[in-house]
Amino acid sequence: MAEPFDVVVIGAGPGGYTAAIRAAQLGFKVACIDDWKTAEGKPAPGGTCTNVGCIPSKALLQSSENFEHAGHGFAEHGIEVKGLALNLAQMLSRKNKVVRQNNDGIIYLFKKNKIAFFNGSGSFVAANGDGGWQIAVSGDARQTLTSKHVIIATGSKPRALPGAPFDNRLILDNEGALAIPEVPKTLGVIGAGVIGLEMGSVWRRLGAEVTVLEALPVFLSAADEQVAKEAWKLFAKQGLSIRLGCTVGKVTVNKNVRVDYTDADGKAQAATFERLIVSIGRLPHTAGLNAESVGLKLDERGFVAVDEDCRTNLPNVWAIGDVVRGPMLAHKAEEEAVAVAERIAGQHGHVDFNTVPWVIYTSPEIAWVGQNEQQLKAAGIAYRAGVFPFMANGRARALGDTRGFVKLLADAGTDRVLGMHAIGPLVSELIAEGVVAMEFGAASEDIARICHAHPSLSEATREAALAVDKRSLNY
Ligand code: FAD
Ligand code: NAI
Repeated sequence: MAEPFDVVVIGAGPGGYTAAIRAAQLGFKVACIDDWKTAEGKPAPGGTCTNVGCIPSKALLQSSENFEHAGHGFAEHGIEVKGLALNLAQMLSRKNKVVRQNNDGIIYLFKKNKIAFFNGSGSFVAANGDGGWQIAVSGDARQTLTSKHVIIATGSKPRALPGAPFDNRLILDNEGALAIPEVPKTLGVIGAGVIGLEMGSVWRRLGAEVTVLEALPVFLSAADEQVAKEAWKLFAKQGLSIRLGCTVGKVTVNKNVRVDYTDADGKAQAATFERLIVSIGRLPHTAGLNAESVGLKLDERGFVAVDEDCRTNLPNVWAIGDVVRGPMLAHKAEEEAVAVAERIAGQHGHVDFNTVPWVIYTSPEIAWVGQNEQQLKAAGIAYRAGVFPFMANGRARALGDTRGFVKLLADAGTDRVLGMHAIGPLVSELIAEGVVAMEFGAASEDIARICHAHPSLSEATREAALAVDKRSLNY
C-alpha cells in the first residue's frame, strides 16, 4: 500500500488535474488517478476536454476555418489561391499532435508539483475509520491508496439516442465526430446544441452537406434571443441546414444512416446521411467508482449529489466538474477544483455560476455572461440595453469580418452590468471584459469611461456600454 495521501483526485480532466495542482500548491500530498490512454497505450491525462473535447474541436475549427478562408475569403484581400486542396489526414494528425502536447503539458505539471499520477481506474474500497478512505487503482498501476480527502472528478459521457448506440463508424459521438477519416458528402447531426453547431461547422467548411435536426422549436434557447436570431440568420447563409421542432424516431444503419423523424408540422420525414453525429447532451460518469458500496449519494439524474461547496454526503469526499450539477464547461470544472482544494485547506473558495462565461466557437463566435434579456424580463428586473454592431468597428472592417454585435445589459436603477451578449469576431476573447466587469460590480458607465485601444474589437464593448446611455460615439 502506497504511503497515505492527504488528497486523492479521481479523474484528470480540467477539474481533476486543476484540483490536484491547487492542492499540491497548498502543501498537501496529492495523488491523481486517471484511466485515459492513447491508442498506443500511453497515459493521456486531460480528460474529455483535452482528448476528445475542447482542445481537438478548437484545433479542427481553426484548421477548417483556415481552409474556408483560403477558398472563399482570401480573394477579397487580393490573395489568389490556386490549386487549393484539403489534406484531411494531415489536418487530423495536427489535431492529434495538439492533443498530445496538452497531455504532455499535464504530465509535466504533475511532476513539477510532485503529484503522484496513476494511470488506471480509481474506485472506492471502504472508509478508513479515521475519516479517510481507501481507493483502489486498477490496471497497470494496480494498488490501494489511502487518503484523508477524495475529490471525484470523473466527468461525463455522451448521451446516445434510444435504439441507436454509437458505433463511431456511422453513428458518431464527439470522439467519432473529431476523427471522420474522409469528408462525408452528407452529414446528419442530431441536436443543435454546442457540439452540433461546432462540429457541424467543421464538416460543412470541409465540404459536407450538413443537416441538423433539433427537438426544440426554438434555436439556441440558452442564448439571448437577439443573439440567437442573428446566429440563425448567419448559419443559414453559410448553408448549415437546421430543422427545429423535430422528433427523431427510428435510426436505421445500412451502408448509410437513415433517420425517420416527424417535422415541426407533424409530418413524417426521412433523411439519409453518410454519417450521423449524435450530440444531444452528456451524462455524468460515475460507473467504475464503486459509489454504491460506500453509499455515495447520486441525484435523480445520476449526478453526484453535492451542496454548493461541492461536498458530497460522505465525509471528506468532494465532487466537481461535469459529474455534478451546473454547466458542463471546462472552466466551471476548474473553478470548482480550485475552490474545493482551498476549502480542504480551510480557506473559503467560491464559485459564482452567474459569472461563468459561455462561448460557442462557431463563425462568428457567440459568447455571453450573466443574464439575458428574456431572463431579466421574466424576473421583472428593469434594465437598459446598449448594442453596438461590428459593422461600425474599424478593426472588424480591417479584418474583413463585420458580422454581429456586442450587447450590454445594465440595471436601470444602479447601472450595474447584469449581462454581456455577443456574436462576432473573437468574442470568445472579448467576453472576459464582461466577466471582469460583473465580478467587480462595475457599472456600464465604468466600461464606457475605460480607455480601449484603437483600432480594436474591444472598442465594440465600450461602444455598447456607451449605447446603454444612448451616447455611442461611432454609431
Ligand atoms: P472530464 O474532462 O470528462 O475528465 C474526467 C476524467 O476522469 C476522464 O479522463 C475520465 O476518463 C476519467 N475517469 C472517469 N472515471 C474514472 C475512474 N473511475 N478512475 C479514473 N479515471 C476516471 N468546455 C468548455 O469549457 N469549452 C469548450 O470549448 C468545450 N468544448 C467541448 C467540445 C466537445 C466536443 C465536448 C464533448 C466537450 C466540450 N467542453 C467544452 C466540455 C468540457 O470538455 C467538459 O466540461 C470538461 O471536460 C469537464 O471536465 P471534468 O474534469 O469534469 O471531466
Ligand atoms: P447541448 O446540451 O449543448 O445540446 C443538445 C441539444 O440537443 C439541445 O439543443 C437539445 O434540445 C437537443 N436534443 C436533445 N435530445 C434531442 C433529440 N432526441 N432529438 C433532437 N435534439 C435533441 O449538448 P451537446 O451539444 O451534446 O454538448 C454537451 C455539452 O458539452 C454542452 O452542453 C456543453 O456544456 C459542453 N460543450 C461546450 C462547448 C463550449 O463551451 N464551446 C463545446 C462543446 C460542448
